[in-house]
Amino acid sequence: MKLFVDTANLSEIQNVLETGTISGITTNPSLLAKEPKGDFFVHIEKIVNICRNSDNMPLSVEVFAKDAKNMYEQALEIYDRLEYSNLNIKIPIGYEEIKVVNLLANRGIDVNCTCCFTASQLELAALAGARYVSLFYNRLLDVQGNPLKVLRKTNKFIDTNDLNCEIIAGSIRKAYDVSSAWNSGAHIVTAGYKVITEMTKHYQTDNSVQGFLSDFEGWIE
Ligand code: E4P
Repeated sequence: MKLFVDTANLSEIQNVLETGTISGITTNPSLLAKEPKGDFFVHIEKIVNICRNSDNMPLSVEVFAKDAKNMYEQALEIYDRLEYSNLNIKIPIGYEEIKVVNLLANRGIDVNCTCCFTASQLELAALAGARYVSLFYNRLLDVQGNPLKVLRKTNKFIDTNDLNCEIIAGSIRKAYDVSSAWNSGAHIVTAGYKVITEMTKHYQTDNSVQGFLSDFEGWIE
């Protein structure tokens, strides 16, 4: 089970990498849109350089073309321009889109098939050759879905078929989502900087530390 950071913010990435808990980075167009306006490739190349200096960790970069044909062309352009061996291209799930997933996979380009909400979507993308398949955990909860059940079913499918594919649980909003997703079949959880910092907190931790310190201060001369 692995933790990725879900952000395009350079300082957040650098900061969270110092914890030693992160083994990958995911981005998407909305995350990029939160950054200062600039050139797409210039910004992504800065993230690629961070990855290169961090054991070549995997980086997901999403296409922003609107139809499958253009997604394929754009995926090739992104892959060729970034020249990063552990880059995976994010392609949203769809019937025409899984053909793109298959074309890219057959060219040896890793794909993260994203925007998935059902086991069928995740499983079909995995069969098409996706290296990663991404479930939108809280967006599914928003519409009364059951992401834990979806994770369990998909994990069993991938395991039974011995597919070289890992499930990423994204759309993570709370610290407890991370362990819930890991323990329900997500190989990877990708969480934002704030969620990752929240994972270290509990009010009883603060109480305990304060109690130790005040007891000790009463003892030491
Ligand atoms: C995965 O990388 C997804 O793009 C991301 O986690 C979506 O999160 P959101 O539902 O907060 O936009």
